[in-house]
Amino acid sequence: MSETAEATAAGEHENAHEHGDQAGPAISVRNLWKVFGPKADRIPRDASYAELSQSELRERTGCTAAVRDVSFDVHQGEVFVVMGLSGSGKSTLVRCLTRLIEPTAGSLEFNGEDVIGMGADALRELRRHRASMVFQNFGLLPHRTVVDNVAYGLEIQGMAKAERRERAAEMVAKVGLDGLGERRPGQLSGGQQQRVGLARALAVDPEVLLFDEPFSALDPLIRRDMQEEVIRLHREEGRTMVFITHDLSEALRLGDRIALMRDGEVVQLGTPEEIVANPADDYVRDFVRDVPREQVISVRRAMRPAEGAEAKTGTEVAPDTLVSTAIETVARTGEHCRVVEDGRLLGVVDHASLLIVVAGLDKDADPEDAAPEDGTEREVAAV
Ligand SMILES: Nc1ncnc2c1ncn2[C@@H]1O[C@H](COP(=O)(O)OP(=O)(O)O)[C@@H](O)[C@H]1O
Ligand SMILES: [Mg+2]
Repeated sequence: MSETAEATAAGEHENAHEHGDQAGPAISVRNLWKVFGPKADRIPRDASYAELSQSELRERTGCTAAVRDVSFDVHQGEVFVVMGLSGSGKSTLVRCLTRLIEPTAGSLEFNGEDVIGMGADALRELRRHRASMVFQNFGLLPHRTVVDNVAYGLEIQGMAKAERRERAAEMVAKVGLDGLGERRPGQLSGGQQQRVGLARALAVDPEVLLFDEPFSALDPLIRRDMQEEVIRLHREEGRTMVFITHDLSEALRLGDRIALMRDGEVVQLGTPEEIVANPADDYVRDFVRDVPREQVISVRRAMRPAEGAEAKTGTEVAPDTLVSTAIETVARTGEHCRVVEDGRLLGVVDHASLLIVVAGLDKDADPEDAAPEDGTEREVAAV
């Protein structure tokens, strides 16, 4: 029972951010292209280029389609991860969102406003107040103190000194840098410097935070800390985030949904669980091959119908409980778990049905079609 409550609390944001109550998507991208090279705008317009691979396109036209006919919505309050290998177009895409890079074609809305049609003033407002960027190289001003770095965006906005220093000090505390406000960036570790970057981005109270591989330069333990920090901030504020990474485990840990990019295209968009459980093609399947499935897949995909007295016994778990958590419970209690949603029994999971997920024998299983074939189940149970 406590597991049900825990899973529900972890899956929800206690406080929706004040900007999060808007009706439509935070960001809406349709058929977006960015082509680098000569006469770039002919590429999106001519369908005959669509079949060409990246290298064929470059050979034939001298152009690189860094972002290729990409469409997606970022929902209010979600962490939207864009993942892909180096060169897949992630940075170009995220820079197109505020037109730091001018898209070649397509449409783009930010909280319902057309970004392509924005004039210089509206764009400046968008970049300074509404969408804050956190970069991999921190981008701090070396001669300014931590507080003054954090206050920088507010200074540009024209906020008075006392007020902006107060707000900056608040942000410094928020990201765990209490007591370090008067240091200069050179006196901080990499992780601390990135916390300053984060505080600076938060200080302007943006509608959306954009991260372009912010933790790639940090060593693994610090990186893990920073990921936890982002998760904590998101849980506290529910602010919409677009997070770019080339690291699959980072994407799975942070993302409510992940857009997986390859050669400028989005090859799959889905929750971590959807991507791991149902890869769209061989490329994605290969990408997620080594992911510990039990840490991403939920009991909703592992359960089978209850038989006889099973419906009355066993610990209750929510359908979004991870298989790894259910394994612990089953191991501890020695009996199956009941998967319950709103007081309704959806099915049960036991040793065999959970092991099927760990073994990867559930691949491409339809979550609605919960019962595994008898043969498979016996095979795993016998292991
Ligand atoms: N200014 C540019 N001029 C020409 N090609 C570029 C430019 N910027 C990026 N590219 C190319 O676009 C592709 C995507 O780059 P990028 O968006 O930086 O990828 P990622 O961030 O995923 O590593 C790459 O092939 C890169 O070489
Ligand atoms: Mg990049």
